[in-house]
Amino acid sequence: MLKNKHIILGITGGIAAYKSAMLLRLLVKAGAEVQVVMTPSAKEFITPVTLSALSGKPVVSEFFSANTGEWHSHVDLGLWADAMVIAPATACTLAKMATGVADNMLVTTYLSAKAPVFVAPAMDLDMMAHPTTTRNLQTLQRDGVAIIEAEAGELASHLVGKGRMAEPETIVAALESYFAKSEQWAGKDVLITAGPTYERIDPVRFIGNFSTGKMGYALAEEAAKRGANVMLVSGPVSLKAKHPNITVVSVESAREMHDACVQAWPAADLAIMCAAVADYAPAEYHHKKIKREGHEVPVIELVKNPDIAAALGQSKREDQVLVGFALETDNEQANALDKMRRKGLDFIALNSLKDADAGFGVDTNRVTLFAADGTSTELPFGTKAEVASSILNHINL
Ligand code: C5P
Repeated sequence: MLKNKHIILGITGGIAAYKSAMLLRLLVKAGAEVQVVMTPSAKEFITPVTLSALSGKPVVSEFFSANTGEWHSHVDLGLWADAMVIAPATACTLAKMATGVADNMLVTTYLSAKAPVFVAPAMDLDMMAHPTTTRNLQTLQRDGVAIIEAEAGELASHLVGKGRMAEPETIVAALESYFAKSEQWAGKDVLITAGPTYERIDPVRFIGNFSTGKMGYALAEEAAKRGANVMLVSGPVSLKAKHPNITVVSVESAREMHDACVQAWPAADLAIMCAAVADYAPAEYHHKKIKREGHEVPVIELVKNPDIAAALGQSKREDQVLVGFALETDNEQANALDKMRRKGLDFIALNSLKDADAGFGVDTNRVTLFAADGTSTELPFGTKAEVASSILNHINL
């Protein structure tokens, strides 16, 4: 997986920097081409000589070469890399990355990097547990940085707790699994629906629901991050898609969402129906605002909306994968399984409505994934981005 991959290994000033030499050796042994970028303080912990010998390339640490005045281009490095891994990542470097303090070669390279970035934090347990570090890690995670969690154990201070850098083998495994995933997803066409639909009653009123689109947008970002081309058919939401591989098709009603999906489906490898589609729409649209004065209480006749997931299920080819979502208040599992069969889905993700930290509007989710082959998996509780990643991990394209 790592053969001929271009990897920037960022090393910062922490005791765990001695383990970076082992990490570098493992990466080189796996066939990767590694460029080491060190912060000035990292050199207090491990010498550039060791690292350049192991990588076969001069280590970059300063903006300019002191001898020749040659500029080390962080922009070129950022474009060259297939992945960047910062190990160890000290509290200081994490803070600089989170806030864009680009006062050294490593942070400028991070800001220029187009490839995915991994950090393996390492610090003393109190620094690790400090709210500032937690906040910075959360910011980085939101910015798309993958965190390779620190491990618990004895630290350089002889205190025992969380703060040891993940072992070099664990870091290599994280990179390998990323490249394996991106090989599977690269260039695949993924169709995702998200958000609510609005069904117009008159020029100022509609039938809608509380969906905010967060789960669908998280799925779109995750699929795009893995290299897929994503078409995100979105109902009215206040979110913006960030990844350049996401094309947003903004729709309002279920009918519009249906038409956009039916058109895109034949070219898609995978569709994930995450939108909360209104089941019914007003039979008639009032072109003028319905007035209260002097009128009886209006009766709004409803007609059934098309079932988008079921329409795609009916025309699904062998080589396509179709995933739906279910939100149930009773007989959750039986209803979800029935829905999967009726709509011709390969998977259904059952959202829990029982927990305050799952479902509409919140940033976290609790999901059980049922597959048409009869298996089911309770996915780990986490942010919608983490849940999106777990869902995609179960899909083979
Ligand atoms: O039938 P129910 O609305 O509970 O099914 C939920 C699943 O079906 C979700 O994946 C949702 O996006 C999809 N759906 C759809 N079109 C509809 C209704 C639901 O695609 N009209």
